[in-house]
Amino acid sequence: MLKISKDKVYVLGNWKMNPCSLAEAEDLFGAIENSVYKKQNDGVEVVLCLPSVFLSEFEGGDRLKLGAQNVFWEDKGAYTGEISPKMLRGLGVDFVIVGHSERRKYLDETDEMINKKVQSVLQNDMIPVLCIGETMEEKKRGDTGEIIIGQLEKALEGVDAEKAAGRIIVAYEPVWAIGSGVTPCADEIMSACLLIKKVLNRIYGGHEVSDSAAILYGGSVSSENAQSIIDKTGMNGLLIGGSSLNASEFVNIADSF
Ligand code: PGA
Repeated sequence: MLKISKDKVYVLGNWKMNPCSLAEAEDLFGAIENSVYKKQNDGVEVVLCLPSVFLSEFEGGDRLKLGAQNVFWEDKGAYTGEISPKMLRGLGVDFVIVGHSERRKYLDETDEMINKKVQSVLQNDMIPVLCIGETMEEKKRGDTGEIIIGQLEKALEGVDAEKAAGRIIVAYEPVWAIGSGVTPCADEIMSACLLIKKVLNRIYGGHEVSDSAAILYGGSVSSENAQSIIDKTGMNGLLIGGSSLNASEFVNIADSF
């Protein structure tokens, strides 16, 4: 069974709906792969979450893992347009982003759907990267804590402790920080992280799930701020959108750990 390691810094690239051609995807993947294998840095786990149409074209390895950006919750059946966890696992996918704010916003993904996806990802021996975070409006209203608690509790409702132990990644991504060039201050990231740990503790009691979960930060991460975010906040890694589309920028981030 796949497990995460808290000794590593997770550097996850989320290409979102980019690039537009397989040729460009091959160039980008190849450039990142070459640098990652040159460096031999055992303290970092690098994952690329590709658009699903490209997943079958690439192979993960011991230093560079494959991730998906979404999944459906049923293994197979009459669900036009969807991609099942079994299909992803069959392509060598180890990580699946679940509940990204862009899917919550544009595809009306609900907490209930996200909960089913988390369960199906775990069931199929992959690691869910559960994205949570508040919008600017919610932040201004002082609702950040409530949003974090609500999204986390609903996403993990009924998720069995045995299945979740050592296999959950939570990515705190304030919606207002995504693609905006603005990041929260270290204190804000740390309070979110503490709250996430507290909620996990509450859900799973003394079970190792809470200690073994990795907590990442995402939102406008660049080679300029990556190291200080990790150093100042003690997060277990980063989920990187825009900066993962530039091979040297992304590799610089991975190399800073
Ligand atoms: P960004 O995106 O790094 O471009 O802000 C992060 C994300 O959406 O995961």
